[in-house]
Amino acid sequence: MAKLKTKTAYLCSACGDDFPKWNGQCPTCKEWGTLSEFKVSPKKNGRIHELRETKNLIDVLSVEPKDRIPTGLSEADRVLGGGLLSGSLILLGGSPGVGKSTLALHICSGINRKALYISAEESEEQVALRARRLHVNPDQLFLSGENELDGIIAHIDRLKPELVVVDSIQTVMNSGLDSLPGSPSQIRDCGQRLLEVSKQKNVSILIVGHVTKEGTIAGPKMLEHMVDTVLYMEGDDRYDHRILRAAKNRFGATHEVGIFNMNEDGLHEIANPSEMFLAERSVNIPGTSIYPSLEGTRPILVEVQALVSNANFGTPQRNVNGFDYKRLGMLIAVLEKRLGLLMGTKDVFVNLVGGLRVDDPAADLSIICSAASSTMDKSIGEDIVLLGEVGLAGEVRSINRLEQRLNEAATLGFKKAIVPSASVNDKVKKIKIDLHPVKFVKDAFQILF
Ligand SMILES: Nc1ncnc2c1ncn2[C@@H]1O[C@H](COP(=O)(O)OP(=O)(O)O)[C@@H](O)[C@H]1O
Ligand SMILES: [Mg+2]
Repeated sequence: MAKLKTKTAYLCSACGDDFPKWNGQCPTCKEWGTLSEFKVSPKKNGRIHELRETKNLIDVLSVEPKDRIPTGLSEADRVLGGGLLSGSLILLGGSPGVGKSTLALHICSGINRKALYISAEESEEQVALRARRLHVNPDQLFLSGENELDGIIAHIDRLKPELVVVDSIQTVMNSGLDSLPGSPSQIRDCGQRLLEVSKQKNVSILIVGHVTKEGTIAGPKMLEHMVDTVLYMEGDDRYDHRILRAAKNRFGATHEVGIFNMNEDGLHEIANPSEMFLAERSVNIPGTSIYPSLEGTRPILVEVQALVSNANFGTPQRNVNGFDYKRLGMLIAVLEKRLGLLMGTKDVFVNLVGGLRVDDPAADLSIICSAASSTMDKSIGEDIVLLGEVGLAGEVRSINRLEQRLNEAATLGFKKAIVPSASVNDKVKKIKIDLHPVKFVKDAFQILF
C-alpha cells in the first residue's frame, strides 16, 4: 500500500472551519487570530480527519448553555426537553402516514428562524400543498428536493439555516457509496455525516425516518446511538390522536410524551389528555376500571377494559391491546392460583381504551381487577382508580410516582384510590382522595366486590 502523505491545514478555533492557508482573520467567522496549524493525513476513503483540541473543563463550564428555541408547539417542546437545542441531531421515526412530515413542517414554521426543509421524498408541490393546509409561515422556510448528501451539505453551507429537516433518511444518498438509498450502509453513512455537520456548523438537524414492522433493524433504529434525541410518533389510523414519545434524549427526560390531535389543518396540542382518553368511558359495566398511567412525567388516566367469557372450543384465547401479552398471562395465572378464579377455560380480552400503549407494571392491579370484575360480573365503582404492581404471590408491590398519578386522579374528580401500602407517604396522604392502601390483591377485591 502506498504511504499516505501528511498535509498541513489551519483550523479556526472559533467556528471550526478549516483552510489550506494561514490567515490572520478567519475567512468564515471573521474572528482574528483563531487559526492554528494541524496535520491531516488523507484516509483511504478521502475523508480528512480534523484534530480536535483538548480543553480544560473549567473553560467548557464557562460556556453559556445553548438556548432553546420554542417550536410553537408546547407539547413538542416538552418532549424535546424544553424546546429545540441548537446544534442537536434529532431522529423522528414513525410508521408511514403517521404524521412525521406534518410535525416537521409545523416545527420549521414555528421556530421563526431560518429553516431548510429537504424534501427528498415528496415534490415541492406536495410540500406546498401540505404547507397551505397547515397555514405554515413561509417567510424563513426554504425548500429543496436535493437528495444527494453533498448537495444537502452545500445548501446548508450556503443558506446557513438554524434548522434542517431531512425528510426522509431513506431517500437521501451519498453517491460515493455504491449502494442504494435506504440501505444500511447509506443510512449509517448519511447519519454520520449529518452528525458531523450539525456539530461543526451548530445547526439543528431533524432526520425523519420511516419505521416499518419488518425493517426495524435496517431502518432508522441504526441511527439511535448516533443522534442526541430520538422521537417516535405513534398513532393509529382509527384514532385522531398522535403521541410523540422521546425514546432517548441527551438533553431532557426520556419517555416524555406529547399528545396531539391530527386533523385537516395539522397537529393540535391536547392540553388535557386524561379527559380525552376518558371521554367515551363506560360506567357501571363489569370489566372496566381506571388506571392513572404515567407517560414520561405526565400522568394520563386510562380506562382498562377486560372481557372474560367461556371458551367454546380448543385453547382459550388471550388477547391484549396496549399492554404486554406475557404479563397478562402472568396476571391470569395469579387470578387462578392466588385468588381462586378458574380461568383455564375462559377467553380473556384486555384493551387499554384509546390506543395508548403502556409498559408500566403499575397497571397490573387495574388489569387484574378488571378481569376479575368481568369474570364475577360485578362492576367497579366509577370514582375509583387502581394502582399497583402485582407479584407472583398475589401481593401488591410499590410503584413509582404515586403522588403525581393521584393528583391527576383527584383533579379529575376521582374519589377513591386503591394503592400499594408500601408506596404511601406523607405527601400522598395529603391528596384529596380517599386512600385504600392494600398489601395483597385479595384485599383490593374485598374493597371492590
Ligand atoms: N387533507 C387532509 N385532511 C386531513 N388529514 C390529512 C389530509 N391529508 C393528510 N392528512 C393526514 O396526514 C397524514 C399524513 O401525514 P404525513 O405527515 O405525510 O405522514 P408521514 O410523513 O409520517 O408519512 C395522513 O395519514 C392523514 O392522517
Ligand atoms: Mg412524510
